[in-house]
Amino acid sequence: MDISIIVPTYNEKDSLSQLVEELHRALSGHSYEIIVVDDSSSDGTAELALALSQKYPVKLISRKNKRGLASAVVDGLEQAQGKLIGVMDADLQHPPEVMSGLVREIEAGADLAIASRHVETGGSEGWSLTRRAVSRGAIFLAHLFLPSTRSIRDPMSGFFLFRREAVRRADLRPIGYKILLEVLNAGQFQKTVEVPYTFRARSRGESKLRLRQQADYLAHIYSLMRRNGELLRFAKFCLVGLSGVVVNMGLLWLLTEFAGLFYLASAAISIETSIITNFTLDDYFTFPDRRRAGHFRTRILKFNAVSLAGLTINLGILWLLTSVFGIYYLLSNIVGIAVVTLWNYLLNSWWTWK
Ligand code: GDD
Ligand code: MN
Repeated sequence: MDISIIVPTYNEKDSLSQLVEELHRALSGHSYEIIVVDDSSSDGTAELALALSQKYPVKLISRKNKRGLASAVVDGLEQAQGKLIGVMDADLQHPPEVMSGLVREIEAGADLAIASRHVETGGSEGWSLTRRAVSRGAIFLAHLFLPSTRSIRDPMSGFFLFRREAVRRADLRPIGYKILLEVLNAGQFQKTVEVPYTFRARSRGESKLRLRQQADYLAHIYSLMRRNGELLRFAKFCLVGLSGVVVNMGLLWLLTEFAGLFYLASAAISIETSIITNFTLDDYFTFPDRRRAGHFRTRILKFNAVSLAGLTINLGILWLLTSVFGIYYLLSNIVGIAVVTLWNYLLNSWWTWK
């Protein structure tokens, strides 16, 4: 078996026959199977899949109770025989002919080929401004919090093909819709390519994407961060930040009380000193795996720039909340510190230690 295409379905009877026929054409010359993973559709999708299996290499996995798109793909993977694993929607929004392009990329040496709306000629048909914005926001969050997605322009894609050996099934524990996030996180890919395609308008049936799935998305990002160590990294970063506060306050006190410096001069020295101790600790403790991101000099300069910008932001928030909104200054400061911690973390993770 060359290729297994996993197709999750929930009430997609109206498009399944056409999908199977078009995939059959797109994959001619390969031995393939289509694994339909249906979650007890009420419209007869499962029965249709069985009927189609008389004529095409279609297999049906029928699950009780609806349990979600991404988990359907994982269950499909369990039964898949192919060396290459494809994933796509059943509703024809993923044009089946694009699958042959994905196969060509893998044959040319990629181990993951993603059909992408965000490279070259790719796009989405008939999307409202709101839907576009939500989708862009979702991609932005993934890029911020999940480093394994950063080189991918369309990590939200549900249309892709990969070498089976690059992914360990046990590492896939998705929540909700976005199975590619799991695959990117768990996979050992040497070469990933994105192939442009147009996400077609849905002509039959309806989308199953609801607010619930959007909330699942956030839970999924959190779960991935827990498993891949990014949450731990963030905790370490906060700890280092705390140590910086101790260094800063201690030195400010020492220099002012014992060295007789004017307190603003002491403050300038203690701020820079704590930036340097924070950098050193983060370099060895928080980002030890990313020290090759740039020359030492570049990293420390970037860290300084981020920290000084952060300080300015902190003061800005403190002033805004206290003087403009009349909030108690110590409370304003807590808000400022929280915002700047996130700012420092994200910029350093994305830029200083990228
Ligand atoms: N088995 C199963 N169980 N299948 C499901 C479930 C479920 O709970 N929910 C949805 N599906 C199936 C649908 O039947 C369809 O074949 C596919 O999953 C995609 O569902 P849609 O509801 O049509 O998704 P969409 O068009 O809003 O969203 C798609 O957006 C991406 C673009 O960012 C995603 O599903 C991606 O695959 C797509 O690339
Ligand atoms: Mn769809």
